[in-house]
Amino acid sequence: MNTLLLHCRAGFENEACAEITDKANMLDIIGYAKSKPNSAFVEFICQEPHQIQQFINKQPFNQLIFPRQWAAGQFVELEENDRISQLLTILKDYPPMGDLWLEMLDTNDGKSLSTFCRKFEKPLITHLKKSGKLIDDPNKPRLLLTFLTGQKVFVGYANQHNSAKWPMGIPRLKFPREAPSRSTLKIEEAWHFFIPRQEWDTRLALSMTAIDLGAAPGGWTWQLVKRHMYVTAIDNGPMQPELMETGQVKHIQADGFTYKPNKAVNWMVCDIVEKPARTAAMVQTWLAEGWCKEAIVNFKLPMKQRYLEVMKLTERMQDHFIDHGIKVNITCKQLYHDREEITCHLQRLN
Ligand SMILES: C[S@@+](CC[C@H](N)C(=O)[O-])C[C@H]1O[C@@H](n2cnc3c(N)ncnc32)[C@H](O)[C@@H]1O
Repeated sequence: MNTLLLHCRAGFENEACAEITDKANMLDIIGYAKSKPNSAFVEFICQEPHQIQQFINKQPFNQLIFPRQWAAGQFVELEENDRISQLLTILKDYPPMGDLWLEMLDTNDGKSLSTFCRKFEKPLITHLKKSGKLIDDPNKPRLLLTFLTGQKVFVGYANQHNSAKWPMGIPRLKFPREAPSRSTLKIEEAWHFFIPRQEWDTRLALSMTAIDLGAAPGGWTWQLVKRHMYVTAIDNGPMQPELMETGQVKHIQADGFTYKPNKAVNWMVCDIVEKPARTAAMVQTWLAEGWCKEAIVNFKLPMKQRYLEVMKLTERMQDHFIDHGIKVNITCKQLYHDREEITCHLQRLN
């Protein structure tokens, strides 16, 4: 068992490979990453099998940008008859598990396996519990079975507190019919990912103030209003009339890159499609000048060397904050609702 399987968005395998190799180097883990284009997964092979455990213990999962989920384990081929018995035999070498998720890859082939996985899950749980391999315990690893086909499966596990919050790293969010745009799901997912649920009442609180740069037609503003915040929406384009009727939104037709708030606000969010370096320079000013405490911004990625570009951007911002004696937490993630972009959360700590 020397393989780390990482799920990612199809088309971003090179970025996930570059990132996991970089993290392995930093932790002195010897190995290599490999992938196939558009497969939606990457494998990292550890030269020393014992290092795999070290890797998933030491690397905080939520600091990875491109991988959506990970599991340590091995690929196995199952014969069509009695897959459960074969899995039980393989699992003899695994520790007892505290939970089970059946996962597929985020590809069309993967999606076609969802009915099979749903049907297979219940009898599998029954047998795993009977054999003592599965006990409800949040402190034991989660068994993660990733089905590539009905026969080929990655039998892996991960710490429940250091892996994806949702199966395959995909949150189940329902598009609210009243929201002005589908983009609304991006900011909702960002909050679920970046802000612990128990902190929502203090960090996404009633009567807080927010500025939404590039707000029209208002999908992000809609989420802020739903949290009972007062929002200044900056965009030359029109906002959804129903949102304006809430009385919680002030619409200003201005350039988001030159706009300065009269008073500091709790949140700045920005969904303007721009060169990432320009967006980074702008958000860095907002945080350094104290115009906002927290920010969520989208970075449109270039076509090549996307991991390297993200690293450069975040290092440049961090250097700027250090030069100004400011502490800022920066976390980036390619969210499920992101396409060619990533989402970045910044929180000023002093
Ligand atoms: C992707 S859309 C934003 C969608 C919005 N977040 C939502 O959920 O409905 C980008 C918006 O940025 C606006 N925009 C582009 N350049 C801008 C600028 N320099 N200043 C302000 N808004 C800008 C566009 O008019 C467009 O409405």
